[in-house]
Amino acid sequence: RQLNCLSFFFSSTCTFFPAFMVGWSSNGPPDPILGVTEAFKRDTNPKKMNLGVGAYRNDQGKPFVLSCVRKAEALIAEKQLDKEYLGIGGLGEFSKACAQLALGADSEVLKSGRNITVQTISGTGSLRIGANFLSRFHAGPRDVYLPKPSWGNHTPIFRDAGMQLKAYRYYDPSTCGFDFKGALEDISNIPEQSVILLHACAHNPTGVDPRPEQWKEISEVIKKRNLLAFFDMAYQGFASGDIDRDAWAVRYFIEQGHNVLLSQSFAKNMGLYGERVGGFSVVCKDTDEAKRVESQLKILIRPIYSNPPMNGARIAATILNTPDLYSLWLEEVHGMANRIIKMREQLVAGLKKEGSSHNWQHVIDQIGMFCFTGLKPEQVERLTKEFSVYMTKDGRISMAGVTSGNVGYLAHGIHAVTK
Ligand SMILES: Cc1ncc(COP(=O)(O)O)c(C=O)c1O
Ligand SMILES: *[C@@H]1O[C@H](CO)[C@@H](O)[C@H](O)[C@H]1NC(C)=O
Repeated sequence: RQLNCLSFFFSSTCTFFPAFMVGWSSNGPPDPILGVTEAFKRDTNPKKMNLGVGAYRNDQGKPFVLSCVRKAEALIAEKQLDKEYLGIGGLGEFSKACAQLALGADSEVLKSGRNITVQTISGTGSLRIGANFLSRFHAGPRDVYLPKPSWGNHTPIFRDAGMQLKAYRYYDPSTCGFDFKGALEDISNIPEQSVILLHACAHNPTGVDPRPEQWKEISEVIKKRNLLAFFDMAYQGFASGDIDRDAWAVRYFIEQGHNVLLSQSFAKNMGLYGERVGGFSVVCKDTDEAKRVESQLKILIRPIYSNPPMNGARIAATILNTPDLYSLWLEEVHGMANRIIKMREQLVAGLKKEGSSHNWQHVIDQIGMFCFTGLKPEQVERLTKEFSVYMTKDGRISMAGVTSGNVGYLAHGIHAVTK
């Protein structure tokens, strides 16, 4: 508002200033995913489905707050804790548990103390702190290699931090699966010491993950090229339902001697979306380096947001550090992952029942919240226009928005636009 007042004030006195102000404050393009939600809200069809946004829904299509979260909140409320500032790196009992969850409680890295984890503003904040850290300190090329395609926010996060974006082949549209050969070829041509971003599990947007034996070869090539691996783990537990299985690639890379960077988010696996809970970790070569990295991370964070919010971190820490709540959480993550896996099967069964002759096996083989259906932009457009099914133009659907109640309708719509 202040800007408008200023430009109004100057417009009568100065001819140069208003043009400058207008250019400065002009509209940018809308966010593609949030734009889908806007269109969905305007639609009056009672059967409408929003499969754009990546937030879990229960089988009644409602946002879901985990029972372990409700219980943790009650425990915290009882304690009548104060609201003093956290330290720059966040809540200690959270960061510690966060690293243990990712690396495993018996991790050599944690035992030898060559780790540093700071609490961040969910996964996005974690990636941005990592990107700023690289931009300030990385000695190699300023290039970050993303899988093609990758989560839409990766590009602006790294770009705004001053890094340059490059890509490596990842998804093969002809199989709706992993382009293993293409990925290996591209990675083996990346200039030494560049940064490579890897989705730890449940790749967004494709739902396509490398198999363990493929991860092993990827690790080998990355080591040969002397690249710095940055893992984005936004879905631990959400992919397979098993937190250890989903962290396998990260742990394997570390065992193989990669000193990785790691972003974690508790948005999906604890359903703490709006609480903004995450962690950023650096595996260092020794304790001394960890100390230096910790000091530099604090210097980096202080002028951005000073210190992170406490509420979500308290909830996550209470769950991770209270045995009863921890086992309840494991059950609940498993339940969410399983519901999604079941919906994938029911969608494919529905398509067969509709009489579709296409091979939809990829819908079942893909993993995590998203499914890359293979629908073309014109088919997506018809699905939205004729069936009020909202999704991104790339054919990605959030499986979390599919329920026993609407999976049949979705199958019907998809068949109608693909036959
Ligand atoms: C691949 C990936 N990374 C990171 C995030 C970060 O999300 P948040 O900032 O809500 O934790 C997401 C969320 O959609 C994601 O899909
Ligand atoms: C490294 O991990 C250990 C064990 O989880 C923890 O106690 C310690 O605080 C961590 N170090 C840093 C600097 O985060």
